[in-house]
Amino acid sequence: MCGIVAYLGDKEAYPIIYKGLKRLEYRGYDSAGIAILVDDQIYSLKKKGRVEAISKLYDKNIHNATIGIGHTRWATHGEPNDVNAHPQSSSNGDLVIVHNGIIENYRVLKEALLHLGHTFESETDTEILAHLIDEYKQRDNLSLAEAVRKALNRIEGAYAIVVMDRHHPDILIGARKASPLVLGVGNNEFFLASDASPLIDHTKRVIYLEDEEMVILRRNGSFEIRNLKNVLQDRKIEELDLELAQLEKDGYEHFMLKEIHQQPRTVKDSLRGRLHVGKNLASLGGLRNCLDRMLQADRFIILACGTSWHAGLIAEYLFEDLGRIPTEVEYASEFRYRNPVIKPNDVVIAISQSGETADTLAAVELAKRQGAFVYGIVNSVGSTIARTTDSGSYIHAGPEIGVASTKAFTGQVAILTLMALQLGHKKKTIDDQTYKKLLLGLHQIPDLIQKILDKADQIKYIATEIQHANNALYLGRGYNFPVALEGALKLKEISYIHAEGYPAAEMKHGPIALIDENMPVVILATNIEAYDKIYTNVQQIKARKGIVIAIVKEGDSEISQIADYIIEIPKTEDPLTPLLAVIPLQLLSYYIAVMRGCDVDQPRNLAKSVTVE
Ligand code: G6P
Repeated sequence: MCGIVAYLGDKEAYPIIYKGLKRLEYRGYDSAGIAILVDDQIYSLKKKGRVEAISKLYDKNIHNATIGIGHTRWATHGEPNDVNAHPQSSSNGDLVIVHNGIIENYRVLKEALLHLGHTFESETDTEILAHLIDEYKQRDNLSLAEAVRKALNRIEGAYAIVVMDRHHPDILIGARKASPLVLGVGNNEFFLASDASPLIDHTKRVIYLEDEEMVILRRNGSFEIRNLKNVLQDRKIEELDLELAQLEKDGYEHFMLKEIHQQPRTVKDSLRGRLHVGKNLASLGGLRNCLDRMLQADRFIILACGTSWHAGLIAEYLFEDLGRIPTEVEYASEFRYRNPVIKPNDVVIAISQSGETADTLAAVELAKRQGAFVYGIVNSVGSTIARTTDSGSYIHAGPEIGVASTKAFTGQVAILTLMALQLGHKKKTIDDQTYKKLLLGLHQIPDLIQKILDKADQIKYIATEIQHANNALYLGRGYNFPVALEGALKLKEISYIHAEGYPAAEMKHGPIALIDENMPVVILATNIEAYDKIYTNVQQIKARKGIVIAIVKEGDSEISQIADYIIEIPKTEDPLTPLLAVIPLQLLSYYIAVMRGCDVDQPRNLAKSVTVE
């Protein structure tokens, strides 16, 4: 999704902004641009494609300039091209603006501006905002800040913006509503960015702007934050908990591979201080103040998108199986628009890696408006969803840069498993023995993940065998069904192979028609109770000449005999299986994508953090 970086200070702005944009590349984008102000002239360097393309437009006149704004664009209004790339400017070129979000009432505003004689160069909604600000500035003779405030009061939709004015080389203005913007405060210098990653090279002192707040940054080192009603806001500077090393590849070829391999540690980090095997205790800090509320819940409603939604599906199995808590899992984008029923004793659980997904955030806000108690399971510390929910647990997986989510998924599932265990034990829906067994099993998961990672070469070999497939099926039952969905999603996201996840038993109601000698079928065959049924599924696939890749438990002797390829995973309890079974699927997708020459960390058309609808 679009990324913003802006700088005002006493250093050279261009390299700071350029490097910042590189840090934001992981969010997904299709064009990029930087505008630098030199004396009273704005130099705008914009290009479709990679951030590197901007460097070819470098103009030596911008050397030593100390104010500028930059952007990576993920197209919403208008195709990705040089003209639609940001910064966008006002008709007289006085103002430039970068924007992340969608201006929903842009058509009405455009009509009004056309009547006033404005003409537009791009197809973007952002250009309209630049014109609107300038219109207020000129017509009503307003200061830049006042003009921005007045314009934003007319905007419906989502935005994070930064505005630069060629007549005000000492001022930058940022603002946000529903799209993130963080202010970095250095020594006599300021940074604005869509997330903290571009700031970390320069400062750890940050303020996350709240909705409908704008910040006015001045070169003299002062800044003020006001809301759109012009009321001064008293905001404290926070210390960022992020290290530079976390944003580097550490010798891995891709961030995704690094993040897959980090999982023994990140799952341990998710469990740290929360799982006490010696004391037979699962104890999430976030549950402490709301334990009764959770125990008395008549129903859990889980809201999420993408991979986080798959973690939610696993949680449905966990909460119902271990806690006997009726659980519904909803796509946040559907929930928010379908007039959902939320009863007083329902508890909403929002799951999000980024904590910024627009649909999840809107669904959380809707649930809160209807009086629901909302618990958040979020990776990105300080993100909007983390701050909006009533209570919650961070998964502590560290920054996830690869667009395809891996370590955040296992972190989410680890937290949800702990939660189900804690609640189930308190409710006495699981006996002491099962509780202890599962706690011990969960404690062992990081080491078992490592054992699977140690077999990466074997998975790579299978990838070479099926890399040319056009389609793939992923099948699983019970706890493994959501894992099948996640495996299929991983494959299509990064290798562009069409893949579908299905409950294994549903195969005969449709997907079986697709099976022939060209169809790889990844089947998760670790379930103890349903083993015979899965064995039958494998036979049905083989009878139609499908290529079976079976994920089996160590020592498996039957399915292994008839499958074309097997990947063994260590034995664990059924409710813990997703934490292991997903690992070979992540690796399989990764290797296939690399073999097909795909851009693993930044797959086409995808964004890491979807901050627009
Ligand atoms: C995008 C990402 C996915 C992610 C989904 C939900 O589609 O590409 O990897 O699962 O958003 O994001 P969230 O940050 O809310 O978990």
